[in-house]
Amino acid sequence: MRARPFIKWAGGKRQILKHLTGSLVKFKDYHEPFLGGGSLFFELHNRNLVSRAYLYDYNSDLINTYNVIKSNVTELIVELKKPVYKNEKEAYYDIRSLEVEEAINKAARFIYLNKTAYNGLYRVNSKGKFNTPFGKYNKMKLFDQETLIMDNKALQKAELFASDFTEVLKHARKDDLIYFDPPYQPLSRTSNFTGYTNKSFGENDQIRLAETFKTLVNRRCHVMLSNSKTKLISELYSNFNIEEVYANRAINSKGNGRGKIAELIVRSWKNKQVPLFRVQKQVVSEIKQ
Ligand SMILES: C[S@@+](CC[C@H](N)C(=O)[O-])C[C@H]1O[C@@H](n2cnc3c(N)ncnc32)[C@H](O)[C@@H]1O
Repeated sequence: MRARPFIKWAGGKRQILKHLTGSLVKFKDYHEPFLGGGSLFFELHNRNLVSRAYLYDYNSDLINTYNVIKSNVTELIVELKKPVYKNEKEAYYDIRSLEVEEAINKAARFIYLNKTAYNGLYRVNSKGKFNTPFGKYNKMKLFDQETLIMDNKALQKAELFASDFTEVLKHARKDDLIYFDPPYQPLSRTSNFTGYTNKSFGENDQIRLAETFKTLVNRRCHVMLSNSKTKLISELYSNFNIEEVYANRAINSKGNGRGKIAELIVRSWKNKQVPLFRVQKQVVSEIKQ
């Protein structure tokens, strides 16, 4: 069994994992400042490449859920098995309206809303209240017990931070690997989702991020970033190694049109410098399927 994301998260990286892992360098600690579903962290853990991890996300409900999986996974599983977490409209709106304080209940509610909400979207109003409508899925699998247990093991080596991505500057040292997967810069005014928190991620944030990227490179960290292929992103990282890859993504604002879209992977090192994964062909082909 492998560790893997326990939620569905917009912008998940499963499709481009083979590119992200295809050209890695040796590193000390691992940092992921836009954690989301954490696909790359779990993948690197499965390949035994992480000794210590620092994981950050601005979404404090998401980080609370990771912390509960790290420290109280058994209690969380007991909670998730309760019959209240039903894939039914009425139950959904009841649970959505609850104000929950206790960490384990909050984590269970977070996972439930993620699995039953429309498109699994995390959307909050200006007061921070979750307001995604019911998803009407025919089938819903609330959780996979084995996955939660494997994720609990992976998280024993991780420290979690509910914070802005710049928190990484306090922890990253020479030779650490940092992977930035920010909300992508929209391709057009209406096309992309940049939510995830009660603050959207605008052009100024992309510029702040590029500065943080450069600061870490000057510190001699290994830094990698994924983003959309836009003029701004190409310009901000023009001094670095940029690879173009293709992923199947929603191509309009309603998310019901899909197509292959070019995305960029920026690295502070040259591609194929240290082919860490050449011996792992079997794992790579599993991901491709
Ligand atoms: C593209 S998603 C990451 C997807 C993730 N790599 C995966 O595989 O699921 C972007 C994440 O950035 C978080 N985020 C948004 N603004 C942020 C900020 N200023 N600092 C840190 N995280 C932020 C969002 O909550 C969201 O989880």
